[in-house]
Amino acid sequence: MKITQTTLCCFLISSVVNTCYSAFHPFIFIPGDGGSQVEAKINKTNSVHYICAKTSTDYFNIWLNLELLVPVVIDCWIDNIKLRYDNVTRRTLNTDGVEIRIPGFGSTEPVEWLDPSRASSGAYFTDIVNALVKLGHVRNQTLKGAPFDFRKAPNENQDYFVKLKQLVEETYEANGKTSVILLAHSMGGPMSQYFLNLQKQSWKDKYIKCLVTLSGAWGGSVKAVKVYAIGDDLGSYMLNGKVMKLEQIT
Ligand SMILES: *[C@@H]1O[C@H](CO)[C@@H](O)[C@H](O)[C@H]1NC(C)=O
Ligand SMILES: *[C@@H]1O[C@H](CO)[C@@H](O)[C@H](O)[C@H]1NC(C)=O
Ligand SMILES: *[C@@H]1O[C@H](CO)[C@@H](O)[C@H](O)[C@H]1NC(C)=O
Repeated sequence: MKITQTTLCCFLISSVVNTCYSAFHPFIFIPGDGGSQVEAKINKTNSVHYICAKTSTDYFNIWLNLELLVPVVIDCWIDNIKLRYDNVTRRTLNTDGVEIRIPGFGSTEPVEWLDPSRASSGAYFTDIVNALVKLGHVRNQTLKGAPFDFRKAPNENQDYFVKLKQLVEETYEANGKTSVILLAHSMGGPMSQYFLNLQKQSWKDKYIKCLVTLSGAWGGSVKAVKVYAIGDDLGSYMLNGKVMKLEQIT
């Protein structure tokens, strides 16, 4: 999930500069699985544990929020963020009484830092953004973030692709009609490809300079199989894969 090493960052920047960065083009960052901040608002009739709140007055940060991943509290977290699959409509649903939204579309903030408190464990695109700022880029002007509900597949993210198309067009216009570089990580790679396949060639010729993918999950993900079998602790010794699995498999 993390791309923080300076070496990787420098490599990325230089390869972008060499292969597709012939003039000053704006960037849109398309994150991977788990790579967007997520907010929830709850008003539930049931909870999984007596310590779990059933209501919240407003939206609160549910991903990434390490305070919600500690033992017992994590059971509340799982119930609030997991999906239920309806095998008849073939669509997913939140737990009853839970509303989910993805904050900050268009801004770099929610993909630079997965944890809005900017805890270092949630550092994501921030080193890349900083490196590009040193080259003269400006956050929210020539650098944009396109977070999405990574729990859902493209068939349930159709509104995201509409918003992303608008963001590309707005970014193009706001930067003197300059085509946009899509910079995607992990599952953001296939999401970007899905998005581009929805567009006409003439649209892509006009608005898209290129698609750069970092560890694009083009061949699928072996990790998905591991998650189904035993869960994944996200590389943190504080987390328990077996517990995380209850959320991850949904
Ligand atoms: C919470 O849900 C109940 C019904 O389950 C409803 O009567 C109440 O108005 C809701 N509260 C809010 C703040 O939406
Ligand atoms: C949906 O799941 C239920 C419960 O597992 C099962 O009985 C039913 O056959 C499934 N229906 C379809 C259309 O797969
Ligand atoms: C980018 O926009 C977001 C949301 O409006 C804002 O919170 C953030 O401070 C902005 N960043 C900069 C550098 O202007």
